Amino acid sequence: MFSCRDLALVFALLAAGAAAAQTERFPGVGRTATAKEVAAWDIDVRPDFKGLPAGSGSVAKGMEVWEGKCASCHGVFGESNEFFSPIVGGTTKDDIRTGRAARLNDPSFPGRTTLMKLSTVSTLWDYINRAMPWTQPKSLSSEEVYAVTAYILNLGGVLPDSFVLSDKNIAEVQQMLPNRNGMTTDHALWPGAAAAGRKPDVMASACMKDCAKEVALASFLPDFARDAHGNLAEQNRAVGAQKGADTSKPTTAAAAPGAAAASAAALAQKYTCVACHGMENKIVGPGFREVSNKYAGAADATAYLAGKIKAGSAGVWGNVPMPPQQLSEAEARLLAQWLVQGMKP
Ligand code: HEC
Ligand code: HEC
Repeated sequence: MFSCRDLALVFALLAAGAAAAQTERFPGVGRTATAKEVAAWDIDVRPDFKGLPAGSGSVAKGMEVWEGKCASCHGVFGESNEFFSPIVGGTTKDDIRTGRAARLNDPSFPGRTTLMKLSTVSTLWDYINRAMPWTQPKSLSSEEVYAVTAYILNLGGVLPDSFVLSDKNIAEVQQMLPNRNGMTTDHALWPGAAAAGRKPDVMASACMKDCAKEVALASFLPDFARDAHGNLAEQNRAVGAQKGADTSKPTTAAAAPGAAAASAAALAQKYTCVACHGMENKIVGPGFREVSNKYAGAADATAYLAGKIKAGSAGVWGNVPMPPQQLSEAEARLLAQWLVQGMKP
């Protein structure tokens, strides 16, 4: 596997202009990456904690971070809603002692949580630091990453409430991970002694027996996250199709010409309603189309929905509540009216 450090190097080489001899093989491609650009890429934290910035964060602070920035998608207790796989759960005190999550071998146990699978705490730290919150990756301070990592481990019964995780004690925490002994390199996909002289199974033939009759979509990329990495259609990429999909636009009705310009749809963008509501599809809250269908034409529905938008809502569509939204009375009414009138552009 490439580490990000390697990738940074590759990019540095690819980007070098006429300067470096190697890159004259790719004339006209980019320029030399600056030291700062390379540093911005070079954020990987390794199992031996190389790359981990010094710092610390408490379980208590982690609870604030979690509830403010993570719980809306991953659940208050890390149990997650129907879209995201659960982060916490399924591990026991015994696992902390043995370093093997016993329920991984229990077919009757319903899920595989992050804490059941995780074998290196550096991976949890690194992943949160580089990728979460999903809508604003790399926005957390080091303290917040330490804190929320500690809080996840606290929810999983690994760390006590009073714990402060830091670069000084993280190696000890590694020794408490419920599945720390669960990693195997025996499959020969990974370099190392276990793989010496062997090849991973690359000759298997596709099974094509007992296939599912119908494919059910269990998870999807919400429209608001489509352009998290810029517009793929404008990017040259080293792998996959040379140009990707146009990710600057959502896939749903919002992409229809005219609709995006409509003031209600624009308000839904401006107040990031679309982080939780797809135009058609449910994300965290119901799809706007579902809401619209439910209340279309109903008497008093505009006032009712405008009130709900301002005050928040709970229990109508499921277990996840909607927090009160900060917008003017007039804006809430406009949005409510748009829903009641069938979301016409
Ligand atoms: C808008 C929704 C959203 C928010 C908010 C969010 N996440 Fe996530 N998180 C996701 C999604 C989606 C994935 C899976 C991404 C993937 O598989 O590529 C994920 C994956 C993860 C994983 C890895 C799970 C695994 O087993 O692979 C961790 C850990 C995690 N998030 C922690 C956090 C933390 C900590 C925060 C708050 C700082 C946070 N997330 C905020 C959507 C979110
Ligand atoms: C953090 C996620 C989130 C955000 C942001 C959000 N909503 Fe919601 N919304 C929800 C959830 C969850 C529900 C379902 C609540 C329930 O079951 O009562 C909901 C419900 C609704 C309903 C239906 C209420 C009912 O009584 O049927 C409307 C209308 C609505 N939201 C509009 C909006 C608008 C407009 C915005 C932006 C100004 C917005 N929402 C922002 C999560 C969110």
